Parts: sequence; C-alpha cells; structure tokens
Amino acid sequence: MSALGVFSTANLNGGQKLGLKYLIVSLALFGAQILFGLLAGLQFLMPDFLFGVVDFSVNRTLHVNALVVWLLYGFIGGVYFMLEDEAKHPVVGLGLGNLIFWVLTAAVVVVVLVYLLVQVGPGEMSTIWFINEGREYIEAPRWADIGIVVSMLVFFFNVVATFSKGRYTGIAGVLVLDLMALAGLYLAGMTYTPNISMDQFWWWWVIHLWVEATWEVLVGCIMAYMLIETMGVRRKIVETWLYIEVALMFGSGILGLGHHYFWIGTPEYWLTIGGFFSALEPVPLVAMVVHALFDSGVHRMKNSNHPALGWTISQAAGNFFGAGVFGFMHTLPQINLYTHGTQWSASHGHLAFFGAYSTAVIGFFYLAAQKSRGNVWMSGNLPGNGWKWKWGMALLWIGMIGMTMALLIAGYEQSQIERAIEGSTWMGYFAAQGHPWFTQAMNWRQISGYGFLLGYVLLVWDLLTIGKGETRPAEVINSEAH
Ligand code: HEM
Ligand code: HEM
Ligand SMILES: [Fe+2]
Repeated sequence: MSALGVFSTANLNGGQKLGLKYLIVSLALFGAQILFGLLAGLQFLMPDFLFGVVDFSVNRTLHVNALVVWLLYGFIGGVYFMLEDEAKHPVVGLGLGNLIFWVLTAAVVVVVLVYLLVQVGPGEMSTIWFINEGREYIEAPRWADIGIVVSMLVFFFNVVATFSKGRYTGIAGVLVLDLMALAGLYLAGMTYTPNISMDQFWWWWVIHLWVEATWEVLVGCIMAYMLIETMGVRRKIVETWLYIEVALMFGSGILGLGHHYFWIGTPEYWLTIGGFFSALEPVPLVAMVVHALFDSGVHRMKNSNHPALGWTISQAAGNFFGAGVFGFMHTLPQINLYTHGTQWSASHGHLAFFGAYSTAVIGFFYLAAQKSRGNVWMSGNLPGNGWKWKWGMALLWIGMIGMTMALLIAGYEQSQIERAIEGSTWMGYFAAQGHPWFTQAMNWRQISGYGFLLGYVLLVWDLLTIGKGETRPAEVINSEAH
C-alpha cells in the first residue's frame, strides 16, 4: 500500500516504462506546437513580428510537424503502454525498442534545430536530404525519413513479436494490420518528382490515408483498450464495434481521398468519386459516438479513471464534429470550389486534429499518470474535486472551439468575397484579407489561442501532481472484460 501515490517506474511493466518515455516527449512536443502556433498567429496580426528571424513559413512548419510528431509519439507510447497487458506477455525485443527511442528522439531534436537555425537551403537535392523535404506536415529531410522508417520497423517488430508469443486478441489483429498500412503509406511521401500534380498526388496518400483511415483505426484500437481498462466493457462488445468501424472507415475513407484531387490536375472522375465516398466518411464517426454513449450508459459511467474517460468521450464527440461535421461541410466539389484552401480548411483541420487525436493521446496521458503512481484512485472525490483536470479540459476545449469558430467565419468571408463575388482574382484575395470579418477573426483566433495555452499549462500541472500522495487504490470495476 505504501507504494500507492508515489511516482515510481517500479509500478510499471517494461512496455509501460518505454511507453511512458514516449508519452513524456509527446507532452513536451505538444507544448512546442502551441508555442509555434501562437507565434504564427501573431504574425497574422503583426506581419513584421520576427520577420527575417523566424519567418511565418518556419513557424508554420514547426507548428504542423510538431503536431504530427507529438501525436505519433503519443500513439507509439499508447501502444507500448497497453502491449503487455493485451498480449499477456513481456515486450519482445524491449532493449532494441529502448535504443530506438533514444535514436528517434535525438533525430527529432536535430531536425527541429535545423528547421530553426538553417531554415532554408538552395534548390538542390542536398536540401531535400539534409534540411527540408518541403511537403507540408512531413517536412523532415530524407536522412530523417530513413531513420523514421527504421524506427517504425523496430516498433512494428516489438508489437508483432509480442502478440505472436503471447495472446493474439481481436484488437491485436486490427492493430498489427493497421500499423503495416500506416508505415507503408509513409513511403509514398518520400519520393520526389518535379511535377507538382504528381507530387501532390502521392503526398495525399500519406496525409489523407493517415488521418482519415489508418490513424482513425489506430485510435479505434487504443480507445477500445481504454474502454475495457477504465469501464470494464466486455471485450466481445468492444471488438465487434471495432470491426464494424474499421469496415466503414476503410470503405469510405480510402476513395474519400478523391476530395483532395478536385483541383490539382488529376482526371475529372475524381470529382464524382471524391464527392461520393468522402460524403460517406461521417458514417463510421457516428458509429463511434453511438458506441461510446452505449458503453457509458450500460456501465452507468462507473469507471476507474474519470479524467481518462472524460477525454475518451471528448474523443468521440470531437472526432464526430471536427472530422465528420466540419469535414462534410466542404467535401462536395460544388462547395469545395469556393472553400478550397481558405481558412475554412484550417478551421476544420484544427478541430479534427484536436478532436480526433489530441483527445485520445491526452486520455492516455491520464492512464499513464494513474499507473505510474501505483494504480491509484482516480474516480470521483479527487482532492479539490479534481478542479485542475476539469478546468484544463474546459480551457483546452473553449480555446479550440474559439479558434475554430473564428477561422470558420474568416473562411466563410473568404469564400464569399474572394471566390464568389470577386471570382478568385488577385484583387479579390486582398479584398478578402482586409475585410473586418477576416481581421477580427484573426484577433479572436489569437485570444482563443491564449486560453488554449492556459489549458495546456493546467493539464501539465495536473499530470505532474494527480494521484500524488493518494492512499486509495483504483476503484475496482466489475470486469469480465479481460
Ligand atoms: C480526423 C480526421 C481528419 C483530420 C485530422 C483532417 C484534417 C484535415 C486538414 C489538416 C486539412 C487541411 C489540409 C491542407 O493542409 O491542405 C484537411 C482538408 C480537408 N478535409 Fe479533412 N480531416 C479529417 C477528416 C475529414 C473528413 C471525414 C472529411 C469529409 C467528410 C474531410 C474533408 C476534408 C476536405 C474536403 C479537405 C480539403 C479542404 C480544401 O479543399 O482546402 N476531412 N483535413
Ligand atoms: C495556441 C493555439 C494555436 C494557434 C494560435 C494556432 C495557429 C495556427 C496558424 C497561424 C496556422 C497557419 C494557418 C495558415 O497557414 O493560414 C496553423 C495551422 C495549423 N494548425 Fe494550429 N494553432 C494552434 C493550435 C493548434 C492545435 C492544438 C492543433 C491540433 C491539434 C493545430 C493544428 C493545425 C493544423 C492541422 C494546421 C494546418 C492547417 C491547414 O493547412 O489548413 N493547431 N495553426
Ligand atoms: Fe481528406
């Protein structure tokens, strides 16, 4: 009992210790993402700010790449965290997994330093190899790409070997196949062609088929484990839902790729294919909401980790609104003709990434905090009534909704003035940028961003302190689940 409430990695199994390292780096990179987002946002308000020192393009690169990397670190951390529990076997090749963590993290640090200090290079292959590959979200230079592929292979080996030696559950089966697709797709973003249409064609294979297919399935697996772990939902129910969601997700998401092929020089049939299949993409997201509500209802919200469950429910709702509703709004080609590439896209991008993925990773941060303090009590009746996690969550959500709404108004105004009225002319672009609806929206985005930052500070503070000195063990959930 004395071990309860004391942070000690002795409370964790091997996979969880490694997972915790990934989760800690993930949390730190989340902070870096917010910092560079705020700097980029300020540059909309004061275009001279840091001009020539850290230009908007550099801040933006750091902002969106940090986003992708912290989420990937969160997913990898989450998978290592659940691996031994799910397989009922120690991680196979853990030493190698640990080594790769340090190699990958050192590579991330070097890439960030190069983005910040070197920033740009001449238009030659050496720049692609050593500075920046120039594809939004996955801009890491080619040497780092190769390192990332090697690291993913080791991670994949750890996962497959552990499941093979231990128990191969339904969740494990989906996870392994999904990781194979996820890692394989990354290769599509590593080729270079001077034809911009072809280049974009392949680049979307990574971005779209990650966020609207393979990542969705990966968080589906992580959330499935979370529901079993915190609420004791029966495995059979969770796995059945998972299979249905995977079928719907791949069924709509793969050809939904076409919604990025409307205007980049690809054949016209993509207008029909992309419009039709991407319009079906919200269906699995509705299924996920129903699933989460169903499980919570059946178990009368009784669970062993309130913050983690709060973020899990956030995930279902955020995924539905950010990806499903905000994605659907501009996915038909007749509408996308006017909204394409405006702040409308950024509005959807923010709400979808946060709603679908950040929430899932934050939920896992709380599960890790609980386990690493000796599986302490984290249900109701927390000291101070759990104000830190509640306010942290509220401020993160208020900040995110504020940013999203401000960007939506700006995007709406751009679609009307720049596109519909002015017919996408150069003058139309400037007329839209100077309109009060746009400039005021940029201010509101920034103010909401500060609220979001405050939420992040509370989140970190809470994660560092929650469960410390707690003497009650975790609430026992009546579980036929495992
Ligand atoms: C969690 C899932 C999703 C995430 C993280 C996500 C994120 C994003 C991001 C960041 C962009 C901007 C890309 C760029 O830089 O140009 C984008 C574009 C787009 N998304 Fe999503 N999205 C998701 C799901 C969906 C869904 C389900 C739909 C449709 C129902 C959708 C429809 C679109 C469309 C049509 C665009 C193109 C916008 C344009 O023309 O500028 N997205 N998405
Ligand atoms: C303090 C909070 C934040 C601020 C001030 C901020 C600001 C910005 C700015 C200024 C851009 C560039 C937009 C442009 O090129 O017009 C951007 C892009 C982006 N940010 Fe944020 N951001 C914040 C937080 C976040 C969070 C939490 C996420 C996701 C979880 C996120 C995801 C993105 C994405 C996906 C893009 C690319 C969007 C696109 O190309 O359409 N940001 N952000
Ligand atoms: Fe997409």
